[in-house]
Amino acid sequence: MNTYNINGFDYCELYVSNAKQAAHFYRTALGFFPIAYCGLETGSRDRVSYVLKQNQIRFVLTSPLKNNSEISEHISNHGDGVKDVSFTVNDAEAAWKESTERGAKSIRKPQLLSDDRGETIIATIKAFGDTNHTFVQRDNYKGVFLPGYVVFENNLIADPTGLIHIDHVVGNQPNGEMQTVCNFYEKVFGWHRFWSADDKDISTDYSALRSIVMANENEKIKMPINEPAKGLRKSQIQEFIDYYNSPGIQHIAMSTKDIIETVTKLRDKGVQFLNTPNSYYENLSERVGDIDENLDVIKDLGILIDRDENGYMLQIFTQPLQDRPTLFYEIIQRKGSNSFGKGNFKALFESIENEQKKRGNL
Ligand code: FE2
Repeated sequence: MNTYNINGFDYCELYVSNAKQAAHFYRTALGFFPIAYCGLETGSRDRVSYVLKQNQIRFVLTSPLKNNSEISEHISNHGDGVKDVSFTVNDAEAAWKESTERGAKSIRKPQLLSDDRGETIIATIKAFGDTNHTFVQRDNYKGVFLPGYVVFENNLIADPTGLIHIDHVVGNQPNGEMQTVCNFYEKVFGWHRFWSADDKDISTDYSALRSIVMANENEKIKMPINEPAKGLRKSQIQEFIDYYNSPGIQHIAMSTKDIIETVTKLRDKGVQFLNTPNSYYENLSERVGDIDENLDVIKDLGILIDRDENGYMLQIFTQPLQDRPTLFYEIIQRKGSNSFGKGNFKALFESIENEQKKRGNL
């Protein structure tokens, strides 16, 4: 039993080489509102950050203003990527104390931040690789984001795309490290194993991987932890590790209440998704049974569907958001199912191989 509660994901902070341009993409392509800013004008001498928000999802995009900083080093090692997956807690001091006593490395001791809108307490621990978790206690704060940030004053319009909240955040690990990292979440946070898939579930000759989903007590936080498994081809997890140069965040899944509307909007705005081969849809009705959506529209948009005993879910994955094949996003709509698309891994990879076979290349 923990002495504190986690109430959800608070924000994800990315270290990027050009936060101004990244913020433009998050606004015009993904439909996020720029709500807060810190930089030279606000007295921040070494970094600039833009905060973007859509419903309950917040991204902080941070770039260095100086050489040889922790931020510039991170970008040089990993490319653009997620630095911090933060949690909203009711007691940041207790969260930090308990985690560090149970073996987590402290990055930042509990710190009281205040301005005329109130106060917050934040504390940070190391997760895996160069990725951190920050605990944010914000119940006494009325400002736009955190003390130190000002309201973003440029009256830039965003056209929201229906993204509601962060469903899960996935961490990729090198071969043999998945269990160690899951044990860390168990020991340090008291989280439990919510779902898992081994290489028998997610393996074809194409891309084998193992995955365990760690969840906190109230299951508001779900973090799948992946590692590569041996297949005939290089695992996509290994490709991530090779380009990120360490463990790190592979994808963030954002929920929608209407995936058809969301994906249509995102495609119109130029967001690129992974292609779903036509053969994926050949046996889909047998696999998932009756669904509310029009299958032709689902097929046109390239959306994947998976069913378990509680219902079904619809999902789609973007292409990587930067030139390195590292971070990407998932759009997900759950209709009863709490699964992580086990059926889709196999069906999708098998359909890719069917296509390959047709070409005589398997
Ligand atoms: Fe996912």
